[in-house]
Amino acid sequence: MSHEKPAQDRPLTTALAEAAATAGYAPSVHNTQPWRWVVLPDALELRIVRDRQLTATDPEGRLLAISCGAALHHARLALAAEGWTAVVERLPDPAQPDLLARLTGLHRSGTDPDAMRMVQCMQVRHTDRRPVSDEPVPTAAVGDLARAAAAEGTRLQLLDSDQVMELAAAASRAEVVEAKDPQVREELQYWTSRAADAGTGLPPEVLPEQQPQTTVPGRDFGRPGTLPVGPGHDKAAVYALLYGDEDEPDSWLRAGEALSALWLTATRLGVSVVPLSGVAEVPGTRQTLRQLLSGLGFPYLVVRLGIADPAHAGPPHTPRLPAEQVVDTSAVRDQHS
Ligand SMILES: Cc1cc2nc3c(=O)[nH]c(=O)nc-3n(C[C@H](O)[C@H](O)[C@H](O)COP(=O)(O)O)c2cc1C
Repeated sequence: MSHEKPAQDRPLTTALAEAAATAGYAPSVHNTQPWRWVVLPDALELRIVRDRQLTATDPEGRLLAISCGAALHHARLALAAEGWTAVVERLPDPAQPDLLARLTGLHRSGTDPDAMRMVQCMQVRHTDRRPVSDEPVPTAAVGDLARAAAAEGTRLQLLDSDQVMELAAAASRAEVVEAKDPQVREELQYWTSRAADAGTGLPPEVLPEQQPQTTVPGRDFGRPGTLPVGPGHDKAAVYALLYGDEDEPDSWLRAGEALSALWLTATRLGVSVVPLSGVAEVPGTRQTLRQLLSGLGFPYLVVRLGIADPAHAGPPHTPRLPAEQVVDTSAVRDQHS
């Protein structure tokens, strides 16, 4: 973010365009970044890019909406860090289902130091698929993560050891089902073999060179990467489920906002987060997740929490699309400076 003028002197449209660009740091399934932002004179719109939906892996668009929700939360924080408070309208127009959210009613509220710290966390947050260390995740930190998710309207259930075994079996079943589906395989192949300068997808540097020895299998990306994994296991990892009362686009969007809140809080606390979505992609194993919740809600995403091995340098950052391709400022070109 370049700050030529003090934040309070810059026009709203500049703050909106910058917040949309900052939201590019958000995590997304297979790094698809399936969002586009439209800057208007007094509002910011978040729209789906259907071309980057995983139509075989995620036909209903759950993971797409969760990814966009993470970007929405990033944008909200970026605005708050610059001293703007917004009203969030989720799915504001039933006639336009691809218009996921509109940030409007923007007013000055004074810069928010917590939000500024979270914006710094956005720049260092990343997915590290290697096994975690043997150091347990502090109970207080897990409580902070659950509260961060709950503040965004989504709950976090920790799984006990029996439930982790059930999760492991379900994750293996999901792998088998997906490995047999040629369209899912094709999607994985596409998103793991993008050109180095494509700005989307998963480069080999962030994928393990072999499947780590973990109780709950991580996603098999169908090809080895170049990231050395070491001998570690996931014995000290905590597995948890993000879930809520509804299984609708609005709740998936909120689940993404909660994932962002949880993950940025985890980054601040030194806790590593890896989403495991395969088990939620296959209807049969999603049902197993529902049973783990005793039918009390709908599962959105499994997350592995742990303390990264201090001997591991962080993997390289996964690429991002340039802001010009993601943020449409054509409606405010004269005002945007
Ligand atoms: C909804 C969602 C589902 C994801 N599922 C997985 C997964 O199953 N396995 C995995 O290793 N990473 C998963 N990820 C992590 C993404 O691959 C990652 O966020 C993306 O490649 C960008 O990289 P970064 O998080 O390092 O910035 C998921 C992320 C999101 C938002």
